[in-house]
Amino acid sequence: MEALPERGPVPERQFPPGFVWGAATAAYQIEGAAREDGRGESIWDRFSHTPGRVRNGDTGDVACDHYHRYREDIELMADLGLNAYRLSIAWPRVLPDGIGRPNEAGLDFYDRVIDELLSRDIDPFVTLYHWDLPQPLEEAGGWPERATAHAFGEFAALIAARLGDRVRHFATFNEPHIVSDHGYRLGSHAPGRTEPDAALATAHHLLVAHALGVQAIRAEAPHAEAGIVLNFEPKHPASSHPLDLEAAAVAHEQFNRWYLDPITGHGYPEDGARAWGWRRDEVLEGDMEAIAAPIDFVGVNYYCRDVVRSPLLPSLDPSAGTERTAMGWEVYPEGLTETLEFVASRTGALPLYVTESGAAYAVDDIDPTDDTERVSFLRRHLEAARTAMDNGVPLRGYFVWSLLDNFEWAHGYEYRFGIVHVDFDTLERRVRDSGVFWAAVARDGVIPSAVQAQS
Ligand code: FCB
Repeated sequence: MEALPERGPVPERQFPPGFVWGAATAAYQIEGAAREDGRGESIWDRFSHTPGRVRNGDTGDVACDHYHRYREDIELMADLGLNAYRLSIAWPRVLPDGIGRPNEAGLDFYDRVIDELLSRDIDPFVTLYHWDLPQPLEEAGGWPERATAHAFGEFAALIAARLGDRVRHFATFNEPHIVSDHGYRLGSHAPGRTEPDAALATAHHLLVAHALGVQAIRAEAPHAEAGIVLNFEPKHPASSHPLDLEAAAVAHEQFNRWYLDPITGHGYPEDGARAWGWRRDEVLEGDMEAIAAPIDFVGVNYYCRDVVRSPLLPSLDPSAGTERTAMGWEVYPEGLTETLEFVASRTGALPLYVTESGAAYAVDDIDPTDDTERVSFLRRHLEAARTAMDNGVPLRGYFVWSLLDNFEWAHGYEYRFGIVHVDFDTLERRVRDSGVFWAAVARDGVIPSAVQAQS
């Protein structure tokens, strides 16, 4: 384990000057305009239009209509005083076939978004892949095929060349674990395949693609920083039974270390690989070195912990006695401290960002902007992040998930994560109490006390 950097001099509850305060979104979840201006089809268009795949048959066809309302949304961010915004690029909007001929109108859209952000002093953090693979590439085999990683490298070069004069932070991927696990093993996300071997091949090809993406960013945007966004869930054993301890340890390798270890030069975790029964056929000579090439930051997405019960023991009710969000995810702020400290144990002095943290709660019937629970959630998680910083974690910024209520993947529009409420009939936006709270944090760089936070 690498040593943590020394304790910083920052006083309690206050964040250092220059700390990045942002909100995050993803293209398919907010843009809409799914068939406009030459955009191609993505696996999420296909999946959401397949009956039975997404709750209520919801799709991202219109979503928040951000494609047409981006100016209004950026004005909202400016009103909230955010100094950063994390967005993703829809690959099929800029390369309708996945490779080959770029779509000028799509590139133009992102040019306008970036320029608008910069005119408001909001620093864009661009994620290249937030799950919307062009459908033609899936039809050619998708991520289990190595060719998809090469196509991603070309896409990354296109975007870095086009936006790299203005964008200072590029992340190659958002949550590769979810792409391989939900998309190809469980089938609950696009493209909806349930093929364990293909999922393992996907996981490796995502890392190969990350390596090619970093190379492309270095070549085309030499002044930009390159990183990756990973998701983490502390895996806690449900009991001290040796089978639970073992199950939690394996889950930690397969979930929390599967991507982090290779990119930090530690290779794939052995016990996790053995438990998958993975033969590593996809790993070619030179891959692991390329995957471990230095990067400039790691983005950490954190929502909750996972209490792991061995499948060989009688099941337990995991939800007993715990506070939960509308998604059923446990509210467990101390898990963010644990996660940041764990990541820093691998990444040392590398800057970290919380690139997603947030919660879904039911909309208040009387006043949709009333979200006291979300304010409390955010306050407690900020405190947990601050504790990690006290303990030496080089955390540089924090992005709330999400700016707007949006298309929550297979859950459709059912669950709402926005610090801004969206009325999906009128598309009207209204800042919630949590948005007011976030604006105060961004303005002062201090976590307001619980009393202030709830007033
Ligand atoms: C993360 C995703 C993000 C959003 C949140 C709730 O896994 O990156 O797009 O769906 O979960």
